[in-house]
Amino acid sequence: MPIYPSTVFITGANRGIGLEFVKQLLGSKNPPNKLIASCRKPAEAKELNELSSVNPAVHVLQFDVTDFDAIPKIVSDTERILDGVGLNLLINNAGIIHRSPLGGVTLDEMRTEADINCIAPVLIAQAFVPLLRKAAEASDVPNMSCDKAAIVNITSKVGSIADNRGGGRYAYRASKAGLNAITKSLSIDLAKENILAVVLHPGWVQTSMGGPDALIDTVTCVQGLLNVMATLDAQKSGTFWDYKGEQIPW
Ligand SMILES: NC(=O)c1ccc[n+]([C@@H]2O[C@H](COP(=O)([O-])OP(=O)(O)OC[C@H]3O[C@@H](n4cnc5c(N)ncnc54)[C@H](OP(=O)(O)O)[C@@H]3O)[C@@H](O)[C@H]2O)c1
Repeated sequence: MPIYPSTVFITGANRGIGLEFVKQLLGSKNPPNKLIASCRKPAEAKELNELSSVNPAVHVLQFDVTDFDAIPKIVSDTERILDGVGLNLLINNAGIIHRSPLGGVTLDEMRTEADINCIAPVLIAQAFVPLLRKAAEASDVPNMSCDKAAIVNITSKVGSIADNRGGGRYAYRASKAGLNAITKSLSIDLAKENILAVVLHPGWVQTSMGGPDALIDTVTCVQGLLNVMATLDAQKSGTFWDYKGEQIPW
């Protein structure tokens, strides 16, 4: 079951899961009219630039998500690109991981992961609310959906406290658990505006983060995530799913 958002903004779109989101959204039967693909270093984003050079829907914006002062400019650049319409879908995808064991955890990694995986998504989501609201108000679809107005935060099962049987990964678990908590609040605060908010776990994916031994490739991952996104509605806002459509406990 596909999703057909007209306008999309994504972070970390130059490689891995983010780049595959761009490819599959563009390859859909009804691709977005405007797909704003942000990344830290556009000059080095070869594949993304190639996609944008042959597809006028793709707009590449330079955005390091830890440059919090740049968020208002990112939103105003997006507003200019959207040219009067709202934003249907925000995907907070950019993320990093450290794997230091107990005894090696550093202040720097705790702070960096908090910044990228947890603090950036809430500041970005908050700044995009007016554009998401605009899309929700303009939509004639009655229920909440990823085609209408939605915030999809890419989390990890590793951020589930209930599922933690392996220990370790302090910075990553904390930052993703924080992202989960934030997403729940977004879903509650934005329900009255018909803006959906969820966290999705992409699986263990063969990317630079997941490594070559991971269980699935980015194609399978994003196909699964898009299928799950197509099932989301008001009842599912504020919940936590994996790419296969299985709900994950907090
Ligand atoms: N792969 C997995 O098995 C797995 C499992 C669970 C969850 N996830 C989550 O899935 C998401 C995508 O991960 P991935 O597997 O695609 O990882 P990846 O291949 O390592 O890609 C990470 C992406 O995040 C971007 N990024 C990192 N720091 C950034 C910053 N400060 N500002 C802007 N962009 C930044 C990277 O950009 P640069 O190229 O500039 O570094 C890159 O585009 C992450 O949120 C991750 O936590 C992945």
